[in-house]
Amino acid sequence: MEDKIISVAIDGPAAAGKSTVAKKVAKLLGFTYIDTGAMYRAVTYAVIKRGLDPKDERQSETVLPGLKIDLLPDGRVICNGDDVTTVIREPLVSGNVSYIASFKNIRLALVDMQREMAKCRSVVMDGRDIGTYVLPEADVKIYQIASVETRAVRRYEENLAKGIPTTLKEVEEDVRTRDRIDSGRAFAPLKPAPDSVLIDTSFMSVDQAVDAVLAVIKEKTGVTPQC
Ligand code: DC
Repeated sequence: MEDKIISVAIDGPAAAGKSTVAKKVAKLLGFTYIDTGAMYRAVTYAVIKRGLDPKDERQSETVLPGLKIDLLPDGRVICNGDDVTTVIREPLVSGNVSYIASFKNIRLALVDMQREMAKCRSVVMDGRDIGTYVLPEADVKIYQIASVETRAVRRYEENLAKGIPTTLKEVEEDVRTRDRIDSGRAFAPLKPAPDSVLIDTSFMSVDQAVDAVLAVIKEKTGVTPQC
């Protein structure tokens, strides 16, 4: 019998640790991890690279025809042939990505790609609108949160480790601004799906958060890590 295709949606605000947890859960279950935030970041970079204004919807949409984004199994992000893995985490992109993510045609194009990616394989997909809009029929929906302060410190430490120059104050401001824009946008805003399970990771280690997500997946689907 063929294995059932399972989709796990992990949504929540910026820097709530979704990608760290989602990546580990995907690896343990043998599912494909899909970082949808990286896709919005890649578009933002493509817009900036072409000298367009990322706050201008009409200008930004012009990058859509022929746009190609590849999320490689080793975590690299390739956009139109360029390796953008590192540059999409830099402040210039982080500070503008929420504008790009609020543009309807850009969202529709990326949502199409995301649905396609989840069609033929089991996925753990992290983002803001996965359970509410991209995969409303997802088998498991998690809404992962943490306090703003915790999220800012985590993102700051992540940046330090990656050699990306930022200050804690800068990161905290960015997190607050993105929360406001992501939750307030008209189309597919950040909000928990009514059938999602809330996990607050403010006082959890990564392993505890991974275990909490695995417990929900087991309860909803019966699927557990093989070893
Ligand atoms: O998860 P992240 O911080 O890399 O996401 C970058 C931005 O993309 C974030 O400000 C919100 C937006 N985003 C979105 O609107 N919808 C998604 N599914 C994923 C990310």
